[in-house]
Amino acid sequence: MSSTVVVGGFFGDEGKGKIISYLAIKDNPKIIVRGGAGPNAGHTIRDGDKTYKVRMLPSGFLNKTAKVMIGPGVVINPSVLLKEIQDFDASGRAFIDKHCGIIEESHLLRDSKGELKEKIGSTGSGTGPANADRAMRILKLAKDIDSLSSLIVDVPEEINTALSLNQNVLVEGTQGTFLSLWHGTYPFVTSKDVTASGICADVGLGPKKVDEVIVVFKAYVTRVGTGPLSKELSLEEAERKGWSEFGTVTGRQRRAADFDFDLARRAIMLNSATQISITKLDVLFPNCAGKTSFEELSIDAKSFIKNIEEKLNTPVTIIGTGPNVNEIIDRRK
Ligand code: IMP
Ligand code: MG
Repeated sequence: MSSTVVVGGFFGDEGKGKIISYLAIKDNPKIIVRGGAGPNAGHTIRDGDKTYKVRMLPSGFLNKTAKVMIGPGVVINPSVLLKEIQDFDASGRAFIDKHCGIIEESHLLRDSKGELKEKIGSTGSGTGPANADRAMRILKLAKDIDSLSSLIVDVPEEINTALSLNQNVLVEGTQGTFLSLWHGTYPFVTSKDVTASGICADVGLGPKKVDEVIVVFKAYVTRVGTGPLSKELSLEEAERKGWSEFGTVTGRQRRAADFDFDLARRAIMLNSATQISITKLDVLFPNCAGKTSFEELSIDAKSFIKNIEEKLNTPVTIIGTGPNVNEIIDRRK
């Protein structure tokens, strides 16, 4: 019975949503709790013929017996959250902390123009301006909003109690290591730290209560918005490789590059990763599509994974081989 923290290792969009939904079903945690910035995050999850795009609700909502929670460090857009709870049938099992910050119309407005939009290429979701107002101590919190009152619980208390009762807790990060306000490619970053330590602080989990940290890397690197991307491919080249993707929140085309070992090594260090998850292996090696055991992988795909394990000195435990929640190789004991 333990806590597992899942974070992105590159620039977000590594496919955390799908990995988290798999773990939420497989490990059956009592609570799945989300840290991170806010509704600037977008997770796409496919279950059978259903595709879910979530921005606020934790990606673990497919497990209907678990509680899903949002930690006090996260800023919330109430209308986005309430709509997702309804659309994804999470009513009665979705909760937030009273100290979650609140995005208002003015934040959306400030995020839709000027420096943030034009220079940084922000998602326009109001997340950055809301976090700025929180630093100024003028942001409204969830406890000030009537429409949210039935969702409020003490999130840190809930998760720490669950752990003391030997129950599993899954902590869900958003964005990726190099979008961190502290450790990323400043100023082309999001408005908070989004490494494992930051995500844990967001939900109220102390450093000695963390058992596993899974850093998720896509089999190649993508980045949406502006900011440096080492060895960036041309859009044509990315398209030719089948790496051309579009953002869940903004619909913008993602820029792409090869798997970057320098970034990955640093992400392992910053997050104190105990395990690695590699997603979209089937995009790199189409003959791996839908495979569920390591033995079934082609020689090339196996050596790609083994090379990552050797160079990063960390086991690759969970491998995504397709968009569906079940298209996973799980090598954990
Ligand atoms: P903001 O977080 O909306 O202020 O955007 C700042 C930068 O982070 C922009 O380059 C965004 O494209 C990027 N960003 C923020 N959230 C995500 C995410 O969840 N996935 C990918 N990029 C993101
Ligand atoms: Mg995303």
